[in-house]
Amino acid sequence: MWKDKHSYSFPTSIRFGPGVIDELPTYLIESGHKRPMIVTDPQLVKLPFFNELIEKLKNKNLNPLVFNRLDSNPKKKNVLDGKVHYLESASDSIVGIGGGASMDVARAIALWAHHDRDLFEFDDAIGGDRHVVERIPLLICVPTTSGTGSEVGRSCVISDDDTHEKKVLFSPRLMAKQVFADPELTLALPPHITAATGMDALTHNLEAYVAKGLHPICDAIAKEGLLLISNSLHGAVNSPTIENRSKMMMASLMGATAFQKGLGVVHSLSHALSTKFDIHHGLANAIMLEHGIEFNWEVSKEKYNKIAKLIGVNDLKKWINDLNLSIGITQTLTELGVQSRDLPILSQIAFNDNCHRLNPRVCTKTDFEKIFQRALGC
Ligand SMILES: [Fe+2]
Repeated sequence: MWKDKHSYSFPTSIRFGPGVIDELPTYLIESGHKRPMIVTDPQLVKLPFFNELIEKLKNKNLNPLVFNRLDSNPKKKNVLDGKVHYLESASDSIVGIGGGASMDVARAIALWAHHDRDLFEFDDAIGGDRHVVERIPLLICVPTTSGTGSEVGRSCVISDDDTHEKKVLFSPRLMAKQVFADPELTLALPPHITAATGMDALTHNLEAYVAKGLHPICDAIAKEGLLLISNSLHGAVNSPTIENRSKMMMASLMGATAFQKGLGVVHSLSHALSTKFDIHHGLANAIMLEHGIEFNWEVSKEKYNKIAKLIGVNDLKKWINDLNLSIGITQTLTELGVQSRDLPILSQIAFNDNCHRLNPRVCTKTDFEKIFQRALGC
């Protein structure tokens, strides 16, 4: 079953399965596009599959332009650079290929291509989506990691060039028109990236499941996503097969679909760590997840126990700790350079982050500081 191709539409149109990337040239031609701008990262362009894809596009008389000048935590200047290239090259569509950074920048270029306002006027925190009124180019997303799930999202996270503050740009019009989710593209991912991105997917599903609000559809998706991860993340890292990589790619899509319901404190904690210390988002989630569960325990105990029962363990926090160790995530915050003197600023950044607004338990700035203290062991 995991070797077959499938079509889904909830709500993005998704083509899923090994080899579906080969359908990209035909999709572009049939939708009347000839000059796709491929937005990706500097590492990915070195991989054989990428060069093969460019050749396949050219062989179909398409004119791809590759844009790969982006930071791992994408900045506004990357988006401006991409917008200038898009317009100067007379590209007619945008294909984001890669992890979250590539797709964030692809989506932000799509947003900004035909809008004149400052990019951060589209900030979701100030209701920026009301300014999304002009044409949005065709946006196609091709994930090569299984974690962010941003291929099925409607927002992108872009940092201020100077302050590094993260801004979320959101509009329903930023949804990709088509996703090609091809698990074969993740087979070359190194174990530490598979592990960190996999823990991001796990965190999405778990935070969505306990987030405030009534959303049984997202809850059901999140539960199945967690079950898939419990069956496949260890194997995807330690003995990759197309089946366990496919299951992780599906769980990643499901996590991002489910978190339309909301996220929680763990994402606010990890956004602060990435902003201040440039720590990989998935790694930060992996480290902070048990502390987020502990903070939420008194209000979400029943739901956490339901998940533990579903995946067949007695203690959810212990399972997460054991999983982290078994996939090579052993770092502590101290080892990553965080010290107790950093906690006031980290707590302020976490508190300002929007993700915890739908956390099942209200989290104050002091609460954030206490959670960071526990994580640091001080
Ligand atoms: Fe995330």
